[in-house]
Amino acid sequence: MKYKLALIGCGTVGQGLLEILTDKGEAMKEAYGFEVKVVAVADKLKGTIMSPSGLNIRKILTVLAAGKPLSAYDPGKKPLAMDPLEVIGACGADMIAELTYTNIKTGEPATSYIKKALSLGIHVATSNKGPAALHYHELRALAEKHGAFFRIEGTVMSGTPVFTLAENGFPGNEAREIKGILNGTTNFILSKMEMDGMDYPEALALAQKLGYAEADPTADVEGFDALAKLVILSNVILGGRVKTSQVKREGITGITKAMVDEAKQAGFRYKLIAETKRVGSKVTAAVGPQKLPLSDPLAGVMGAQNALTFDLDLLGKVTIQGPGAGKLQTGAAILQDLLAMHRDLR
Ligand code: HSE
Repeated sequence: MKYKLALIGCGTVGQGLLEILTDKGEAMKEAYGFEVKVVAVADKLKGTIMSPSGLNIRKILTVLAAGKPLSAYDPGKKPLAMDPLEVIGACGADMIAELTYTNIKTGEPATSYIKKALSLGIHVATSNKGPAALHYHELRALAEKHGAFFRIEGTVMSGTPVFTLAENGFPGNEAREIKGILNGTTNFILSKMEMDGMDYPEALALAQKLGYAEADPTADVEGFDALAKLVILSNVILGGRVKTSQVKREGITGITKAMVDEAKQAGFRYKLIAETKRVGSKVTAAVGPQKLPLSDPLAGVMGAQNALTFDLDLLGKVTIQGPGAGKLQTGAAILQDLLAMHRDLR
């Protein structure tokens, strides 16, 4: 089947997705009968291009790699002055990849884009934590009402399968508790403090240089990024109704090199742990630093990696580890969602 796809937002993740579609397009067609035609790309900063007959993905990537606006795709044409909301209504897409920047406080403008698409019966895949952390149940209900899919694999642990795994990998199991390392920046900082003797500011500066940290690293080091991801897990996998304001949160800014060294001497390691559990009908969640014994699988997760331990009623504890961010890694999450939609539509 051939789908018409529109990208709303075309920064790092959008370009990662376009690269994957170019490199793996033929393989996806052969393996799954899945084909995609990109009919629109709309980005607040880079502009908008639209073509019902399909755009040339390589050409889009070349334009963006040169740092040019999307209007340079077809210099003979007048640039399209359209807002992403208008594009969603006009582009004729079957699927939308919503890849705009995360706002954990308001979820906007992404939530409005997603609502518009779902109301039109357009399937949505997003890696944006804001709408999923703040409005997951509402957006799912809207999707169901209009016969559309709303998928969010890229919101937690990038393309390391979390929701796909919970959906398909644990049949018959009930998850009682989920505990993990959901922020690469803080895990990188704690690892550097312990292994390379760096102090906190030095390790943070390196995390920023390597591109792990959010634009404002407060979201990482004060635990807001992990909190948003944890709320998504609480509500999607444990079926909770947890609000971001209800989650206890502490970051890693109070952890000193001396504390890290002292824990190490005693056979422990500090990690920023995000934890959610169901007790009866109530789901609770908290983010904060914990001193883990080295025997805990989460204690062995070093650098910018993420990991999650699911406590399941039939299987017991199952831990997955993998990347939590990255251009191709998050692009791969969107591909997983598009393929899952294709599987369910066939
Ligand atoms: N700043 C985030 C992290 C990026 O460090 O994990 C992925 O959400």
